[in-house]
Amino acid sequence: MKHRRHEIPRYSKKIKFGDLTLHISNNVYEPAEDTFLIAKNLKAEGLVLDMGTGCGILSILAACKAKHVIAVDINPYAAKCAKLNVEINEVSSKVDIIVGDLFTPLIERPIFDMILFNAPYLPTEDSEPKSPIEYAWSGGRGGREVIDSFIRQAPKYLKVGGKILIVQSSLSNVEKTIREFSKQGFQVRIIDRQNLFFETIVLIEVFKDMLSEDISVSNRKEKFA
Ligand SMILES: C[S@@+](CC[C@H](N)C(=O)[O-])C[C@H]1O[C@@H](n2cnc3c(N)ncnc32)[C@H](O)[C@@H]1O
Repeated sequence: MKHRRHEIPRYSKKIKFGDLTLHISNNVYEPAEDTFLIAKNLKAEGLVLDMGTGCGILSILAACKAKHVIAVDINPYAAKCAKLNVEINEVSSKVDIIVGDLFTPLIERPIFDMILFNAPYLPTEDSEPKSPIEYAWSGGRGGREVIDSFIRQAPKYLKVGGKILIVQSSLSNVEKTIREFSKQGFQVRIIDRQNLFFETIVLIEVFKDMLSEDISVSNRKEKFA
């Protein structure tokens, strides 16, 4: 088979993850322990949303098993980098990459079997990061602006029987995430964790059953009544 030549950005680093080859350009988050915590627990199927795709690593892994993947990132350099990596790893027919803020680019409101998010969480003075790479860690004021916005919006994009996998740090109030999803009737549990030098990162699994569907529909009705 003849291989297409890809335009590799000059300022990029090449890394290997299992069988994958990934190019990480200098405005894009390089996969780290938090990425690997999701990767190691990922059993993707159906339609998957990879929120904050970065270099696209989780989309590529998900695409090996799932029917289709939609990847979103607010950082246009990340979207470009993910597109290149998806092509190099030969899964571009199964992955759509979109630039945008959380769920806003998903106009037709697709309903997912699985939503992945390795969320940014460091507290910053301003809500708006000063450079594209800062989106990778900047959680806004208090470190929870992005996570809280994700928690408010994600439920209506998830199928009954579907799962959210979100990685978060002990620095950004894991209990609040668990509480907020539980309030909406979801079954929430920590399925993996890793202690790092000054924080613990946890992988939270959020499961939607019929009860959570009823609660989130009635919450939405109350809100718009
Ligand atoms: C910690 S990095 C994770 C990247 C990749 N998923 C991984 O695990 O290696 C977080 C990613 O979320 C993106 N991001 C941050 N805020 C976002 C938002 N509001 N909407 C979409 N993507 C966002 C960042 O640009 C960054 O690529």
